[in-house]
Amino acid sequence: MRNIVLVGFMGTGKSTVGKRLAQSLEWDFVDTDCVIGEVTSLSVTEIFRRHGETRFRSEERIVVARLSQQDQIVIATGGGTVVDPLNLEALAQNGIVIGLHASMEAILRRIGHKNDRPLLKGTKEAIEKLWFERQECYAQADFTVDTSQKTIDEVVSEILARLGRMTDNEFTRVSKN
Ligand code: S3P
Repeated sequence: MRNIVLVGFMGTGKSTVGKRLAQSLEWDFVDTDCVIGEVTSLSVTEIFRRHGETRFRSEERIVVARLSQQDQIVIATGGGTVVDPLNLEALAQNGIVIGLHASMEAILRRIGHKNDRPLLKGTKEAIEKLWFERQECYAQADFTVDTSQKTIDEVVSEILARLGRMTDNEFTRVSKN
């Protein structure tokens, strides 16, 4: 089995679900934002503030290329990672890509009050626009789970059930695409 990659907008639960999923599978868990933080010794907020989004995206691309070479890890991506089709391609080549979806209401309830996401600093309308524009990128996942009304354990169980239902053939096909 290759990697499991979680994609979706900020606040859909990628990191929380990813950690719990990795525990269940006894796989390692990696969060691209954390790796970028380790490599640059800066928080995401600091990279955006000091060097801008372009630098962040370039670090992200390098991290994605590296993680895509590994096997049997659960990867939580950042909300903008798969907006770059090359990132999606690299991740999909060596893994099953799972989309996490959440309504704008759920997202704002979960992370609207936090201060650690530079792209959440705009108006509610601007965030909504970004959410809307990105849906087609997230829709390219192999399958999607709506996390809006679910606990972490419910989301993990649903993912495990969906993965379990995949036949070996499907698994091979999906992970080699
Ligand atoms: C971003 C999402 C963040 C982080 C950065 C940019 C985005 O990750 O990568 O702030 O473009 O949506 P999370 O989705 O984990 O919050």
